[in-house]
Amino acid sequence: MVHWAAEERAAIASVFSKVDLERDGGDALVRLLVVHPHTQKFFNSFGDLSDPSSNAKVQAHGKEVLGTLNNASHHLDDMKGTLHQLSDDHTNILNMDPEIFKRFTKMLVIVMATKVGPAFTPPVHVALDKFLDSVADILIQRYP
Ligand code: HEM
Repeated sequence: MVHWAAEERAAIASVFSKVDLERDGGDALVRLLVVHPHTQKFFNSFGDLSDPSSNAKVQAHGKEVLGTLNNASHHLDDMKGTLHQLSDDHTNILNMDPEIFKRFTKMLVIVMATKVGPAFTPPVHVALDKFLDSVADILIQRYP
């Protein structure tokens, strides 16, 4: 199990206290789809993705993803249990490439850092990276 120091827990909680759970997930997902257009192939069922920012399904899905991350941030000691079903979905159904997860989490970090502002110190960044890497490990079943 991943160990979380008190400072890491506080850093992750502070980041999630500053993000906009309604919009920031959509923002990150839009960035992924624009910067790495080949990732659009996973979202064929979402319709026209020529301008992802104006696609309501992209925004709604981003909100769902960020809500899931927020929930996981409240269950740091049982992330595997919390994300178990999603792990099956992303690994078996979507056959997800780990590289794509990394690209998405980078977008999330950028969006979150702009919300946190000057308080986004190197230790906060490291704690957030550790959290998002842990989520990705579980979702693509690299977790021991
Ligand atoms: C932080 C990482 C991620 C989290 C927390 C996450 C979370 C979720 C959630 C909560 C769902 C809905 C599951 C359901 O309806 O049963 C979902 C579905 C899905 N995810 Fe992820 N996801 C992540 C990363 C990604 C990435 C990087 C991609 C692809 C670029 C992706 C592609 C999809 C697709 C295609 C679906 C199905 C969407 C649909 O048809 O409605 N996910 N994800």
